[in-house]
Amino acid sequence: MNLKDLYINYFVSKGHKQIPSAPVVPENDPSVLFNTAGMQPLIPYLMGQKHPYGTRLCDYQKCIRTNDLEAIGDSYHHTFFEMLGNWSLGDYFKDESIEMSFEFLTKILNIPVERLAVTVFAGNDTIPFDEVSFNKWKSLGIPEERIARTVEDNFWIAGETGPCGSDTEIFYFRSNDEIPSKFDPEDERWVEIWNNVFMEFEKHEDGTVTYLPAKNVDTGMGFERTTAILEGKTDNYASSAWTPVIDIIKEVSNLPYEGNEKSMRIIADHIRTAVFILADPAGIKPSNTDQGYILRRLIRRAIRHAKKLNIDINSNWEERIASTIMDMYEKYYQELKDNRTIVLDGLKNEKIKFNRTLEKGLREFDKVTRDNKDIDGVTAFHLFDTFGFPIELTEELAQDKGLKVDIEGYKAKFKEHQELSRTASAGKFKGGLAGSGEIETKYHTATHLLNAALKQVVGPDVHQKGSNITAERMRFDFSCDHKLSDEEKAKAEELVNKWIEEDIPVTVEEMNKEDAIKSGAECMFIEKYPDRVTVYSIGNISKELCGGPHVKHTGELGKFKITKEEASSAGVRRIKAVLE
Ligand code: SER
Repeated sequence: MNLKDLYINYFVSKGHKQIPSAPVVPENDPSVLFNTAGMQPLIPYLMGQKHPYGTRLCDYQKCIRTNDLEAIGDSYHHTFFEMLGNWSLGDYFKDESIEMSFEFLTKILNIPVERLAVTVFAGNDTIPFDEVSFNKWKSLGIPEERIARTVEDNFWIAGETGPCGSDTEIFYFRSNDEIPSKFDPEDERWVEIWNNVFMEFEKHEDGTVTYLPAKNVDTGMGFERTTAILEGKTDNYASSAWTPVIDIIKEVSNLPYEGNEKSMRIIADHIRTAVFILADPAGIKPSNTDQGYILRRLIRRAIRHAKKLNIDINSNWEERIASTIMDMYEKYYQELKDNRTIVLDGLKNEKIKFNRTLEKGLREFDKVTRDNKDIDGVTAFHLFDTFGFPIELTEELAQDKGLKVDIEGYKAKFKEHQELSRTASAGKFKGGLAGSGEIETKYHTATHLLNAALKQVVGPDVHQKGSNITAERMRFDFSCDHKLSDEEKAKAEELVNKWIEEDIPVTVEEMNKEDAIKSGAECMFIEKYPDRVTVYSIGNISKELCGGPHVKHTGELGKFKITKEEASSAGVRRIKAVLE
């Protein structure tokens, strides 16, 4: 049986409810691009909110970590991975958590106790040595010399602030060498497989730590790593979590894995991550910002390594790899079934786009580095702008030649270009708003929020029919067949103010008009826009084709108040509103 099924069955038998994996793009947390840990979607509940499924939960969660993209290609780093987890929300604590982990490892997975070792929190000025965990492990049969005490590695927090606590980490001896009687966490033959965090604290921005409303447990076990261990593999990519993908890459490249590991792992890892991003309900498409940029980089890097393996880029290699991945996972993730075409189209479109310029770009790269000179910012930007080379690709190519890239110079050039195009499109398409002041900019963002609010309150058929902004007020015309009731007005106002209070980031990306429309972006007069458009998003609330400018965060708007609602023309209503 697959480790995921064994894990869920075991914890369900211990009174846990299985919760579905949250999307890879967090729904309510604009501070991160992707979910990086199983606990992330559960933060509100660790902080004290009641979970609808109760106090014992378990799941397998899709995670994406992009901080180590250059490391991909070795035997154990993955961009996308699954984390198995079980949680107690103020239910059991250290003893029971450790007992269950021990039982699962030794009785269900049949791992011999001799192969296990653990670390526990050693204690510091504020939090004492974790004697409870220490004693528990001992009572279960882990000898004292296999229980290491550390400080830094035994305190877990997702970022700078939030729920946190001391933890106990479980290690497995992954080597055929004789097992040393004393456990040294620095000895790389011992690999961490599970982390049980005892979350009882919250760290605040000023650095202080207070108790959470309840003592919680948050555990995380890496699926790929543990699968490899159970199958006796030292290369994760040689385990059943990966072999079907590596096999298909061997087939399309007609090359063996041995000797081509790095490129094959990069292709497998990057396409798999791209599949899960594309299938996510957030509807991410390759672009030059945020998640879309990561997606673009992953696909383009996979293509470059496919080229290295002499795969015919114009064949349907990426479709075959992605299909294999979706076949493997669709039993666990319904979105792969629902969005199969979206995924395959997304990969193919990006491939076509990149492929058009890849050859020329590589030739250009060779030309500009012919004399083995480092790459300046202008050249790096030229490779990006004209040939679609993400800066990281230029860096990687440069590295292969032992050259450096002026990243700061590139960034400056990038910014300059962005400002130019933003002003240009603002001037052309949002009559009069270019060069607008701070207050007009706020009103402009408010029209997007009002548009989104009216869609929720009145119905999805509401569309913007016009707007007019002065420093004193905004006017917003929209399609609607009736006079708004007082309740509808109040609700719309409330929603806008709620979003302002939530201080949601406003983000912008540049894309093809077609893609923008496909992605569900709202626009007023489609034919008025050029082929390349800018799209402004306010969290998941609003997405509109628009030249800007906008505020960076909705919190900047102040208080929103509707002052008037009246007829504008047949089927069109007009709202006047102010920001106070
Ligand atoms: N949050 C912890 C981790 O990511 C345990 O789930 O390791």
